[in-house]
Amino acid sequence: MQIRTAIFSGSAAHPRQFLKRPIPHFVFAGRSNVGKSSLLNKLLNRKNLAKTSGSPGKTRLVNYFLVNDRFFFVDIPGYGYAKVSKKERLQWGRLVETYFERTPYIAMVFQLLDIRRNPNDDDLQMIEWLQYHTLPFSILLTKSDKLSKNQALKRQSEIAARLGVARTEILPTSAAAGAGVKETWGLINHVYESVKSPMSAKETP
Ligand code: GTP
Ligand code: MG
Repeated sequence: MQIRTAIFSGSAAHPRQFLKRPIPHFVFAGRSNVGKSSLLNKLLNRKNLAKTSGSPGKTRLVNYFLVNDRFFFVDIPGYGYAKVSKKERLQWGRLVETYFERTPYIAMVFQLLDIRRNPNDDDLQMIEWLQYHTLPFSILLTKSDKLSKNQALKRQSEIAARLGVARTEILPTSAAAGAGVKETWGLINHVYESVKSPMSAKETP
């Protein structure tokens, strides 16, 4: 898909601010600092559309980016960031959970994991939560440029084994080097083609 337009469409700090337009949402989820905002930017070929940071906890709101006036990329706050207060962490958690519960148009959740780390309890809990709510999700490994090709392949197999899925079901990506970008767009195109018709039917009064 050719990216014609990618526009920041708003942020939600509270459920009443969630955008209601009935178009597909592609969501970027994962631990704080895993690279959600960076990968979103890379996919859209934009440097700083979603704000990124070297220190975790940058994205604190649900941020919507309208792509080609057809679907949203949604950047959500990361979980597991120890340095924020417990109250704030609970607030983010509740915001994200409510976002998923109140958004009927989730086409795909990209669940991001750092290729160098084993999935932790928070990651596993998030994946179980997605499964429990029968949300469509796909695992992407981030920062593959930090490893050699061989190391990356090895980590891909190890993480797949820990998650109990085939190696080919998880895709290494790099926001720095562009690995996996073509494949991720392949997936987005495929999913978009399969969900757009029922959604446009819903739009018809
Ligand atoms: P929160 O908004 O805090 O939840 O973090 P995030 O998941 O959005 O992470 P973000 O995109 O802000 O990236 C965190 C850090 O990792 C930044 O310093 C990025 O430059 C770096 N980073 C992200 N993706 C990559 C990548 O593919 N390769 C390398 N080398 N660094 C990356
Ligand atoms: Mg972010």
